[in-house]
Amino acid sequence: FPVVVLISGSGSNLQALIDQSLQGNLDIDIKAVISNKASAFGLERAAKAGIASHALDHKQFESREAFDHALMELIDQYQPKLVVLAGFMRILTEDFTRHYEGRMLNIHPSLLPKYKGLNTHQRAIDAGEAEHGVSVHFVTSELDAGSVVLQANTEISSDETADSLAQKVHALEHIIYPLSVKWFSSGRLTFQHGQAVLDGEALPE
Ligand code: GRF
Repeated sequence: FPVVVLISGSGSNLQALIDQSLQGNLDIDIKAVISNKASAFGLERAAKAGIASHALDHKQFESREAFDHALMELIDQYQPKLVVLAGFMRILTEDFTRHYEGRMLNIHPSLLPKYKGLNTHQRAIDAGEAEHGVSVHFVTSELDAGSVVLQANTEISSDETADSLAQKVHALEHIIYPLSVKWFSSGRLTFQHGQAVLDGEALPE
């Protein structure tokens, strides 16, 4: 099952996907890893796993549209059935999101619809939340607003810092992202009329 993964940074979620497929728990073929940052450590993880890797620097393009267009061309060379955003820190154009609608997933470190955007851990702590977590969702044109596939939560303790919370959330990410990808690659998870559907049932919003 051909997959392309987009990253901007460390790529620990990419690593979780690689590990799960090596362990035989996930039947995917990661055709390529693409980063908008040449320095992303995830590119080294890809190379180590023998996966084609590309850096496509958004700063080399005169507009968001031009970058997204080039990115689309690069991705489509690999004919993926699923595009996985794993810490890809770029806002995507509507053309791009429409092109991959129903076949692109993102992982966002909050219990959506709460805390879209950046600095989610600190914002959850500052708001006095008792719990926080992570969401996998289908990508639509509106940022962090596509239909949710799977969430996991964790308590916010009294002495929590953004870093300690990020660590707890990351551990959850590495469980729920491979699982979501597995659902999609096995055909259990689909996207119908803007809605995530698992085993024929619309998932709760
Ligand atoms: C994760 O926190 C993910 O939720 C967010 O970006 C981060 C990526 O981490 N979208 P990594 O690069 O996979 O380690």
